[in-house]
Amino acid sequence: MNDSVRFFDTTLRDGEQAPGYSMNLEEKIRMALQLEELGVDVVEAGFPVASPGDFEAVCSIAGTLKNVTVAALCRALVKDIDAAHEAVKKAARPRIHTFLATSDLHLRYKLRMTREEALEQIGKMVAYARGKCPDVEFSAEDAFRTDRDFLCRVVEAAIRAGASVINLPDTVGYAVPDEFGRMVADVRARVPLADRAILSVHCHDDLGLAVANSLAGIANGARQVEGCICGIGERAGNAAIEEVAMALRTRHDHFGELGYNLRTEQICKTARLLATITGVKIAPNKAIVGANAFAHESGIHQHGVLANAKTYEIMTRESVGAQASTLVLGKHSGKHAFRTRLKELGYTFDEERIETLFESFKSLCDRKKAVTDRDLCALAENTASAADGAGDDSRWVLESFVVNSGNRMSSSAVVTLRKGKKSVQEVALGTGPVYAALRAVEKIVKHPFSLDDYQLQAVTEHRDALGEAQVKLSDATGTYRGRGLSTDVIEASLLACLAAVNSMLSNGHALGTGAASNVQHQFAEDMLAGHSDKPL
Ligand code: KIV
Ligand code: ZN
Repeated sequence: MNDSVRFFDTTLRDGEQAPGYSMNLEEKIRMALQLEELGVDVVEAGFPVASPGDFEAVCSIAGTLKNVTVAALCRALVKDIDAAHEAVKKAARPRIHTFLATSDLHLRYKLRMTREEALEQIGKMVAYARGKCPDVEFSAEDAFRTDRDFLCRVVEAAIRAGASVINLPDTVGYAVPDEFGRMVADVRARVPLADRAILSVHCHDDLGLAVANSLAGIANGARQVEGCICGIGERAGNAAIEEVAMALRTRHDHFGELGYNLRTEQICKTARLLATITGVKIAPNKAIVGANAFAHESGIHQHGVLANAKTYEIMTRESVGAQASTLVLGKHSGKHAFRTRLKELGYTFDEERIETLFESFKSLCDRKKAVTDRDLCALAENTASAADGAGDDSRWVLESFVVNSGNRMSSSAVVTLRKGKKSVQEVALGTGPVYAALRAVEKIVKHPFSLDDYQLQAVTEHRDALGEAQVKLSDATGTYRGRGLSTDVIEASLLACLAAVNSMLSNGHALGTGAASNVQHQFAEDMLAGHSDKPL
């Protein structure tokens, strides 16, 4: 048995399918690059046949990542496999990941196929994919609820047809750990060619058991584990990659010295980036990456930790790259110290970006007494996204604003924006200062939009905390997200609004539409509509 576990990350496919987690092209590429930095073995970049946006994202990620396998998902249909191949073929290490549901429930009601027809389809389509790409993964969707004898026949057929990875999903999160482990053990023991392929597990979290089930799969011989950062994904989500990795690292006494390529020190940075991009906050009590994961509130715990950290800490902050919220730099710090601290926090930028970031840092020092690591991370993440359009004369930038607000009056805002050399000022009224300020922007840019979502949160604890505003704006072309950061919440809101307006006006990439999720359920319709697979 190969004694290392491969991490297959599907944040950009299964994760992105979940409501609230859609990303645009630039965001997907940023996330994919960070996943490469984290050291996952496979990045599942999307479901190319689902929409032109998904196709383009998979192509771009395939052309960008150099050190990981890039997988594209497809149903076991010729047109899907062709699209998946077309999208990943430029990757340094491409993989076609094809799937077909195998439980009687799915075969009968969703696919309207018999077991024998499914077996034939799997054999034909895996062979077809293998003719196009040397690395083919086959997933038996709903494997856990599939009749065990039939599942063994399916696995054997897929391996004979050329699949080198066989994935056994618990698609609906129904399994409990000992049963799930037994399924993996059964397949290994009963399928004659099982050792020619890597067995993979893909567990959903409907009963909160996705990580436990994944670990049971590994304990029984699975050597690829699929999951998402922070456990995002369809419904209750997928197994959280960071939890599986830290369980293997922390409990190597139990799991044995299983090797893996994942750099656990990059975990927090990756989770933070996902939260920054999607605007979905990490719950404070989230295992491994939550703000409280290393906090000790009670006196007894604090006393124990001071005496010996191992009393209440089973892993170190450093092992997951969690930064302490300590005062690190101030207004007298030089650029060298600033650059070094950013590097220690996992951010490496070119000199031009360091320069911009240093300016933002200095003006933050003027407004805020203590600049903490968390402030620096927020600045760094904000700069990485804002810099994409920096110095571009076709973008609107904030020049100044004044708001007037009170509990017995309407709010008003005077906003001045600049585009290239042109400065435009407008006044607007609203039921609150944010409303008035955004209304003034709408008047200046002369492009109506609706505000679909608005969130404001403090990045750090104190009264002078940086506030981060996130907005989702939409027009007829789609939905656009923007972020803004400032110690002034109105300024943060205006900056967020401008980021979204600029991508809207420049025909930037709108957020995904969840098409990947819908297409998964159309297999039968496609078969009946004549897209089914002609004899090869
Ligand atoms: O949950 C599932 O079964 C899936 C497959 C498509 C791999 O996501
Ligand atoms: Zn899934």
